[in-house]
Amino acid sequence: MKGKKDVYTASLGLVGAAIGLGNLWRFPYMVGKNGGGAFLIVYISFVVLLGVPLMLGEFILGRSSHNSIVGAFKRFTPGTPWYLAGGLGILTSSLILSFYGVVGGWSLKFFYLSSTNAFLGKNSQELGDIFNKFISSPVDPIFWQVLFMLITALVLISKIEGSMEKITKIMMPMLFLIIMVLCMKALVLPEIGNGMAFFLKPDFSKITAGGIQAAMGQAFFSLSIGMGVLITYGSFMKSDENLLISTLHVIGTDTLVAFLIGVIVFPVAFTYGIEPGSGPGLVFTALSSLFNDIPGGYGLGVMFFLLLFLAALTTAISLLESVVTCLTNQCKLSRNTSVFTAMVLITILGAVTSLSLGIWRDTNLFYILDYVTVDVFLPIIAMLISLYLGYVLELKVMEEEMANDGVKFKYTKILQNMLKFVCPVIIGSVLLIGLILN
Ligand code: PFF
Repeated sequence: MKGKKDVYTASLGLVGAAIGLGNLWRFPYMVGKNGGGAFLIVYISFVVLLGVPLMLGEFILGRSSHNSIVGAFKRFTPGTPWYLAGGLGILTSSLILSFYGVVGGWSLKFFYLSSTNAFLGKNSQELGDIFNKFISSPVDPIFWQVLFMLITALVLISKIEGSMEKITKIMMPMLFLIIMVLCMKALVLPEIGNGMAFFLKPDFSKITAGGIQAAMGQAFFSLSIGMGVLITYGSFMKSDENLLISTLHVIGTDTLVAFLIGVIVFPVAFTYGIEPGSGPGLVFTALSSLFNDIPGGYGLGVMFFLLLFLAALTTAISLLESVVTCLTNQCKLSRNTSVFTAMVLITILGAVTSLSLGIWRDTNLFYILDYVTVDVFLPIIAMLISLYLGYVLELKVMEEEMANDGVKFKYTKILQNMLKFVCPVIIGSVLLIGLILN
């Protein structure tokens, strides 16, 4: 029984780290921007074809090396430049956290606004204006971003990190509950037909090479693949934890949450006249329009934005933790110094990206950083990890990690071949075509 509980707790922590702004904010925004149903199909195909083998691969690398991404490469292939791929993973985590913190700040601000009833009586146009005015102002979003980053860093320093697991344990069922309630509300909206058609009916003429590349990046981002976070998680996994089951659990839950958010957001957007391709404000504007219009909307709104903030926080903690672990292990800095240094640098970069949505609009930094990290760096690192697992790591290590209770896993060779050929070929071609045609 104890073993079962441990397994449950380990995957719960993982689900907490995987589910975040990627599912709740970025997924509907990307679907909306890239034409709807066709993007969804391409996204799910990448989750299955690339997500499953790569997540398994990262767990294998972590558990067999008992190390983080840089340490894992150093351990199995000392004296080779492979560890640089790990370094790129850590750099990418830091860059992603910089804009993640900005959006985390937006979630805090919306939690504050909804709890002070600031949206009352506003229509979707006015709510959209509130959002746009907020993110483009020079000081306000930075204030909330700094607050978000401070909370993240405090959790790492204050040793309450362990309690985050308790928060995740309460947060996840609450998130599911509120998503189910919102789904039921969305299903009776007047524009449900058009909203669902946009989300579920694929129109492949609407998807471009850039859209396919975005779907691949979104799959990696949402599943936290390509940054070493999963390698670190793998290093904490018990030897009797079934890696395949954990992988399917995390991927299934993560994809379900993203899907259900789509079921909510698009009918809401069509009903309240919000353009699905309106950009990063989509979830904020659509949901606050809904909360304004339904009975019990105040409580639902406060709860939703609180959960959005908590989901962002648990993920930001895992991102910062992987940067901090690398700094403490590789640069021999104390933990507090590492947390402080990483937090300050990442927050400064984040503040600059926030300004690029307003007074420094011409630089486009927010969108460039998002594109380069998610659609370019994550696939490159995922490809390197894939090649490493396919060609460098001995099959024996993979077999040991995939075996359960001494019983051999029958498909290890297939897994190795997926990582050797299928994943690198798909990632390489999507990336290349996306980069050339973009
Ligand atoms: N998967 C997270 C989300 O959906 O919000 C984002 C993320 C976390 C990406 C951790 C990468 C990572 F290493």
